[in-house]
Amino acid sequence: MIYAGVDVGGMSIKIGLVNSDGKILKTKAFATEQEKGYKSMFARTADYIKQLLEESGFSLIDLAGIGIGIPGTVDSKKGMIISAVNIGCKNVALAEEMSQYFNVPIAVGNDANMAALGEQRFGAGKGHENVVMITLGTGIGGGIIIDGKLYEGNGGAGGEVGHQIIEIDGEQCNCGRRGCWERYASATGLINQTKYAMAENANSLMHKIANENGGVDGRTAFLAMDAGDYSGKAVVDRYLHYLAEGLLNLGYVLHPEMFIIGGGISHEGKNVMEPLQQKLNEDFERSGMLPYIQVVQASLGNSAGIIGAAALVM
Ligand code: BGC
Repeated sequence: MIYAGVDVGGMSIKIGLVNSDGKILKTKAFATEQEKGYKSMFARTADYIKQLLEESGFSLIDLAGIGIGIPGTVDSKKGMIISAVNIGCKNVALAEEMSQYFNVPIAVGNDANMAALGEQRFGAGKGHENVVMITLGTGIGGGIIIDGKLYEGNGGAGGEVGHQIIEIDGEQCNCGRRGCWERYASATGLINQTKYAMAENANSLMHKIANENGGVDGRTAFLAMDAGDYSGKAVVDRYLHYLAEGLLNLGYVLHPEMFIIGGGISHEGKNVMEPLQQKLNEDFERSGMLPYIQVVQASLGNSAGIIGAAALVM
């Protein structure tokens, strides 16, 4: 039997066919194009699942279930999207919507929760019972696993770590609040800060790097820093400062064994994990609130969301 895992993001939707060992057999990605509305988004998702099955030599009969990770608040018991501001969805009965196209169990959950499940079952969190997954992408997602179980909060509205306030009266967030962590420490936040710094530093190496790579992205400041550019390093330092403060807030509340860092920015590896680990250790050492919390890079990379979504329906 195989499962389809779907990871819906602000920019792209990724689908994978997954077997019961959590192994991805084949994937496909396409642009979210949220401006076309949710009906189009999920009709295209259904088409691509069917296409993937066909291309892999399977038919609908082989499909045992579909799991979908959504970048927002989801009532997973009802299969309902409550609010997903980064894809413009509110009160969408998604399991019902998808059951027009498929006659198999359909599970819907929050994207970061899916990634947390994937990492805890098959990745960096294997063998650990208390882990918090943080995804750094268009927004910041959080997946909280306590005593081996996903903690979703009442109605599934918990774990919205990206909307903790890190700067009072700060930048406007899509959710309506000001100064949310994800405005500063997501990939979007990093890109914005990179652009501000570039506007102020005409001589920064970041201009050349952005030109060579077809525009500013989450790597621009890191690449400049690695090449010895001072303004690139300043952007990265400030970014990591915001990232660490948000993690510390979560650490003081939940104190898990580990933070698993996923999403696009996590591919920076040591450049992110080591300074974060150091900042957290110094802080907890000062306060005496030990043991340390391990900071680790997600090991399933971009696949965690797909695998976790499939795991939800398994
Ligand atoms: C949403 C979360 C989501 C995260 C990552 C946030 O803006 O509120 O539900 O997990 O982005 O996509």
